[in-house]
Amino acid sequence: MADYDLMIRNGTVATAADTFECDVGIKDGVIATLGRNLGPGTREIDARGKLVLPGGIDSHCHIEQRSSAGVVCADDFYSGTVAAAFGGTTTVIPFAAQHRGQSLRQVVEDYHAAARPKAVIDYAFHLIISDPTEQVMGQELPALIRDGYTSFKVYMTYDLLQLDDRQMLDILALARRERALVMVHAENYDMIKWLTARLLERGLGAPRYHAISHARLAEGEATNRAVNLAQLLDVPILLVHVSAAEAIEVIRNAQTKGLKIYGETCPQYLFLTAEDIAKPGLEGAKFCCSPPPRDQEAQEAVWSGLKNGTFQVFSSDHAPYRFDASGKLPHGERTTFKDIANGVPGIELRLPLLFSEGVGRGRLDLNAFVALTATNHAKLYGLHPRKGTIAVGSDADIAIWDPECETTITAGLLHDNVGYTPYEGRKLRGWPVMVLSRGRVVVEGGTLAAQRGSGAFLPCALSTYARPAGTPVPEFSYAAQHGRPLV
Ligand code: URP
Ligand code: ZN
Ligand code: ZN
Repeated sequence: MADYDLMIRNGTVATAADTFECDVGIKDGVIATLGRNLGPGTREIDARGKLVLPGGIDSHCHIEQRSSAGVVCADDFYSGTVAAAFGGTTTVIPFAAQHRGQSLRQVVEDYHAAARPKAVIDYAFHLIISDPTEQVMGQELPALIRDGYTSFKVYMTYDLLQLDDRQMLDILALARRERALVMVHAENYDMIKWLTARLLERGLGAPRYHAISHARLAEGEATNRAVNLAQLLDVPILLVHVSAAEAIEVIRNAQTKGLKIYGETCPQYLFLTAEDIAKPGLEGAKFCCSPPPRDQEAQEAVWSGLKNGTFQVFSSDHAPYRFDASGKLPHGERTTFKDIANGVPGIELRLPLLFSEGVGRGRLDLNAFVALTATNHAKLYGLHPRKGTIAVGSDADIAIWDPECETTITAGLLHDNVGYTPYEGRKLRGWPVMVLSRGRVVVEGGTLAAQRGSGAFLPCALSTYARPAGTPVPEFSYAAQHGRPLV
């Protein structure tokens, strides 16, 4: 009789803290024992020469989502989670996105109905708040936070998503009361609109002008404003998909002052530049996302931010749009940069890119890689220690990596529904060769082994990076000066 359902032997295990040689015994979907010379497993896996890492958590991805402009993602919860799994990710946190006029509760139910029959790995949801009505702010959102949707994204840009500063303050005050985490898309929309109008009136509509209209200063200004709004109310926030040195500097300075300001960046800001967006014809549309990739200097600033701890999480911001009128190019050949669907795919390549170019080239150690791609996501969004680490009692969500495996990226190799990849032709070293989710083999030998709908929904606890449960919400300092609480 076997002691374990699954035994992984002889591998090198790495967590966010340590790297060590040990066997991993898995029973009933959780890690039961870490040690040497453990008893037999029903299935034995020899991981000699391989790395045994926590499965990645991709806490920023768009799956089966309709954008505010009405464009639908190419990936549903099947293709999106299959692609994630092939890239070594075992948990995704996409968005349940509210459009104006919608009930937030109904939106969440709709996303559950979409995900439940299709997801092959576990998932949680962030909310997107575009319509903070009295009903949403007074009832739906507080109730949803208690039900396990403890983080939500707000936008300082886009016609049908943008919140003004006053609405942002209302949302931040609510997050403070409820200990939720606010994710901020920070770009100054008036700057972008003004630049866009000037470019278009001169007939400059090619994709390359997307990068010019989304100026670095627009990102820096809005990041600074978001940090100030958060500081005013003494509430933690996460700046998502940060690309510009100007924004990184603001986040770093706030952290140096001791503010709970967190940062997220993504592969496109390490591996792409505005030169990609400037490719001939409409080709550059494949690289259009907001904020846009910038230049080599900005790439270096992003690497520094990953190395020095300014960024806590490295996510894909997978926003998969096909290169046709259903996706990137709503007006076909006549689409100007203003109407190109924003976003790039990356759910499958997020980890291999960072492993190859970060760990492989000595920019990050293995423990930092695990922290940035798994553990910190679990802590930030209330999934730790169930997810994001290799520890006794944690879910057996594990990716076994061959650190020497060499791969040349082509779209045909990938499992999403996008049909192209911004990383075509790039040579990578290191690849996840076996992926487990709660002890189930999901991917092995390049083959999918999981059933549709076998992924489970994960309600999120409150973020341990925000204000830990059980600790008092300090009296609001501004209110204290005026003798009675304001929030
Ligand atoms: O361009 C991007 N990042 N598109 C996805 C939507 C968003 O703002 O994250
Ligand atoms: Zn965004
Ligand atoms: Zn996004």
